Amino acid sequence: MKRVFSGVQPTGNIHLGNYLGALRQFVELQEDHECIYCIVDEHAITVPQDPKALREHILDVASLYLAIGVDPKKSIVFVQSDVPAHAELSWILTCNAYTGELFRMTQFKSKSQNKESAPAGLLMYPVLMAADILLYDTDVVPVGNDQKQHIELARDLAIRVNNTRKKTFVVPEGRFMKEGARIMALDDPTQKMSKSAPNVHSRISLLDDANKIKKSIMKATTDSEGVIRFDVENKPGVSNLLNIYSVLSGKTIEELEAAYEGKGYGDFKKDLVQVTAEALAPIQARYEEIRHSQELLDILKDGAERANAIAVRTLQRAKNTFGLGL
Ligand code: TYM
Repeated sequence: MKRVFSGVQPTGNIHLGNYLGALRQFVELQEDHECIYCIVDEHAITVPQDPKALREHILDVASLYLAIGVDPKKSIVFVQSDVPAHAELSWILTCNAYTGELFRMTQFKSKSQNKESAPAGLLMYPVLMAADILLYDTDVVPVGNDQKQHIELARDLAIRVNNTRKKTFVVPEGRFMKEGARIMALDDPTQKMSKSAPNVHSRISLLDDANKIKKSIMKATTDSEGVIRFDVENKPGVSNLLNIYSVLSGKTIEELEAAYEGKGYGDFKKDLVQVTAEALAPIQARYEEIRHSQELLDILKDGAERANAIAVRTLQRAKNTFGLGL
């Protein structure tokens, strides 16, 4: 069975972009892969976090994994900092990464932009991500499009060590959805939907109530043409909404275009509000059941033990490759 690894940062409410680009894949893959899903809290502290809020967000994300359908009997679910090998392998990989390739990462550039000085952790972020992936001999990494460059670095580092030292790492591949790999912000369809954008109506969080969903969708930026047609270049707002509608309803874009021919944006948006609220309701119900339960803590403890058992073996292999320890 092929091995799958992915992670989400506990930095705020998980939104439709995270769900449609990445998390949806987690559930699908667990049927015929060995899946490991992580809450990457060490990545979260590359920007300042309130410690109390971070702990809460770790549990929020873990609960959402389970609420969307990740099954702890099939998949390992754990918190990154519970497995020390991530930070250790990250150091070994750091010594094999070039500063030039790290400075070229678009996420580093955008996050350090307009700052007098950026934390070194922001620069090393993709190396820690490579460690996450390589530690589990991962074959497949389900993520959104924005992580393409980071996956490429993980591959480059694995190949570099394998070629210059000896075969140590499995070379992973990214897995991206055809629709949903890049969900755009509702208020500005030229930007990706993000957890940190100041306007709450730029995103729909998986835990938003029906009223908030309605407000955000009805406010979503469209255009003045008044025709429901998929055309990313000229109609990015409508195309983004079509994308969301298509994935949540299981209808193709063509089916939706045909169904809304001659209708206005108002009708289209109203239906999308309903489709979205219906898709999120069962997730929210399950989330409420699990969020404050002992079951959640037990699942994470068990997940950390199982993840650790795999991780220590790969770490030892990497230490052997470089002659570390005795
Ligand atoms: P994070 O927490 O920013 O996002 C979690 C996942 O959601 C995807 N995503 C999106 N997909 C579609 N449209 C969007 N607007 C959108 N926004 C986010 C992301 O691509 C991601 O898959 N670096 C990672 C976390 C990470 C990781 C890993 C992932 C750390 N180590 C190892 C995979 C493997 C991140 O910041 O995700």
